[in-house]
Amino acid sequence: MSLNYTKVASLQEIHPGNMLKIKQPQQDILLANIDGKIYAIADQCSHEDASLYNGALKGDCVECPLHSSRFSFKTGEPLEPPATEAIRTYKVKIEGDEIFIAL
Ligand code: FES
Repeated sequence: MSLNYTKVASLQEIHPGNMLKIKQPQQDILLANIDGKIYAIADQCSHEDASLYNGALKGDCVECPLHSSRFSFKTGEPLEPPATEAIRTYKVKIEGDEIFIAL
């Protein structure tokens, strides 16, 4: 099955060590540039629906601003309680300086 990729940003918009929120009708998405590689996860904590964009990027994880659960940008898995469920990850494709994700 081929994936349907959508352009969401350009590489100039997200420097290493930073996050970028992408507004989408169904689910806002959070991009992170981790050591030059782009990752994408749902911008919604699995504990109480907080926006992770307001949290802190620490290594390859984002820390939720409400109760400090940390989620891996690579797997979506929570690494600290209280969250116990993974959040959705999205496949990322780079073409030139444009970032595409499979929605
Ligand atoms: S809302 Fe994210 S850890 Fe509670």
